[in-house]
Amino acid sequence: MTKRVAEAVAQGTKRVPGITVELKKAESATAKSAVAADGYAFGSPSHFGIMSGKMLTALTDLYSVRLKMAGKPMAVFTTGTGGQVTALENIERIIGIFNPTFVKPGIAIETVPGRASPWAIDKVQSADLGERLAKAVAKRARTSGTGPKTRLGEGRS
Ligand SMILES: Cc1cc2nc3c(=O)[nH]c(=O)nc-3n(C[C@H](O)[C@H](O)[C@H](O)COP(=O)(O)O)c2cc1C
Repeated sequence: MTKRVAEAVAQGTKRVPGITVELKKAESATAKSAVAADGYAFGSPSHFGIMSGKMLTALTDLYSVRLKMAGKPMAVFTTGTGGQVTALENIERIIGIFNPTFVKPGIAIETVPGRASPWAIDKVQSADLGERLAKAVAKRARTSGTGPKTRLGEGRS
């Protein structure tokens, strides 16, 4: 489910010219690849009412490069069957160490297997989040002279 949302967010970024996106699982996102990006969407399922352990590990690994990620646009999305809002708040609190340009509101999507109609709405919201992130990246590139790229971190169970 989180992967589906990540893909929809990635689709949304393509509405902004010049943006390229990489989808990465939390366990395959390295500090080096993260530093190279100009913006980020962090996504995670809710596990036991909080973000996934893999996303926490990924964010912990990024602590060492926090100054190189500072100020960049960051968005958050989560999925869950009730704990998704808490998971979103977990990630937003932790990524505060990057002093990011927050792309808010993030999205906390309720996972309801087999319900096609709400997913259609969620998909629209996810793409909208991606577009908002991409616009923030493009805006920052215009003002700071850096090239626009986004990188998506996707937390998996
Ligand atoms: C180990 C585990 C623990 C979970 N704990 C919670 C929870 O505490 N609260 C919640 O809302 N959903 C919980 N869920 C459900 C997932 O958050 C939900 O199904 C999520 O959308 C799955 O995303 P995924 O398909 O990307 O793994 C749990 C799922 C797993 C596998």
